[in-house]
Order: sequence, then C-alpha cells, then structure tokens
Amino acid sequence: MLGEKEQILLITDINAHLMNLSFEDENIIFRFLEEDDYNKNYFDLLSNLTSAPNPRFEDWREQFNKIKKSPIFIFVIEDKSKSLIVGSITCLIESKFIRNLGKVSHIEDVVVHLDYRNKKFGSKLVNIAVHFSKKLGCYKIILDARDDAMGFYQRLGFEKRSEGMALYL
Ligand SMILES: CC(C)(COP(=O)(O)OP(=O)(O)OC[C@H]1O[C@@H](n2cnc3c(N)ncnc32)[C@H](O)[C@@H]1OP(=O)(O)O)[C@@H](O)C(=O)NCCC(=O)NCCS
Repeated sequence: MLGEKEQILLITDINAHLMNLSFEDENIIFRFLEEDDYNKNYFDLLSNLTSAPNPRFEDWREQFNKIKKSPIFIFVIEDKSKSLIVGSITCLIESKFIRNLGKVSHIEDVVVHLDYRNKKFGSKLVNIAVHFSKKLGCYKIILDARDDAMGFYQRLGFEKRSEGMALYL
C-alpha cells in the first residue's frame, strides 16, 4: 500500500513524534517489521500473545511479501544489543464507502516480550499506531481487547464501545 519512499517519510515523521517518547536505552529502536526479523526471535515474541508456531523461512518470506503489499502495517521494537524483537503491533487500514470513503484502523496483536514489560513499550507501540492511523487519515481506531488488557487500553484513551464476537473456524 505504501512505497518505500512513503514508508521512509512516515518513519521519519513517526520518529519525530517519538522524540517525546524516546526510549532511554539507545539499543532499543522502533521500526517497521523486516524480513530478517524471522532470525530475531519474532515468533518467540508472538508466542507471548497466542499460539505462533515457527514456520519454515520460505513460508515466512512468502507471507511477509504478501503482507507488505497489503494495507497491513507491523511495527516492532528491537533490542539491538541482543538482536531480538521485543515488541510488536499490527495496524490494518480498512478503506470504506461510508464516512466519505473514510478509513478505519484496526489494531491487532499487541505484544511485549515478558522480560520487557512494564517499561512503557506497550504504551509506546499503541501511541505510535494511533499517530500512524491519524497520519493516514483514519477517522477511528478499533480493537478487540482481552478482558485483562482493558485497563491498559483505557489508560491510553480507548473507550469500551461494544461487545466483540468471534466465530472460530
Ligand atoms: C498488554 C501489554 C502489551 C502491555 O505491555 P507493557 O509494555 O507491559 O505495557 P506498559 O509498560 O506500557 O504498561 C502500561 C501500564 O499498563 C499496565 N498494564 C500492563 N498490562 C496490563 C493488563 N493486561 N491489564 C491492565 N493493565 C496492564 C501496566 O501495569 C502499566 O501500568 P502503570 O502505567 O501504572 O505502570 C503486555 O502486557 C502484553 O504483551 N501482554 C500479553 C499480550 C496481550 O495481552 N496483548 C493485548 C491483547 S488485547
């Protein structure tokens, strides 16, 4: 959905936005997910969220390229001192016919590695996703919060609006 140049411009803008939020440790960086993150324990991180078995590299690459061409954006936090991905958030931008051909951002799969929790990494990831969604002109952001994560999102300004439903297939 975004070209390389647009991604760089957005990242530059987001980095400027992050000046206020910057990480104290310079080894901790924020960026878009990259292909090489397969080798940086990305699946170990995702298994802190739900079942996320490690695929073969070729399957990962195929899925990664599919996602790259879609309106799905995955931001990660890397601990460069350990070459580990320690946080991740996904934004899916949905283009609509309603609301003057508006856009809605869906936040999914917010996760911070157990060893890195309570350092505001999760809050910063959500803050970045909110800023990014505003930049792309979305009129609202929605997410399904686990019961035990409600407080986390409420503190970041989200309000409970409806009961989510799911049909597992
Ligand atoms: C939810 C999660 C992303 C928060 O990450 P984090 O980096 O620890 O978050 P922060 O440090 O920014 O936490 C901010 C505050 O929220 C609180 N908090 C963290 N997880 C919480 C939870 N599940 N419920 C309520 N409050 C929570 C923290 O105690 C902290 O409080 P403080 O500001 O008073 O110190 C992390 O706990 C996680 O990965 N959980 C497992 C996956 C998950 O549940 N994801 C959300 C799916 S909807």
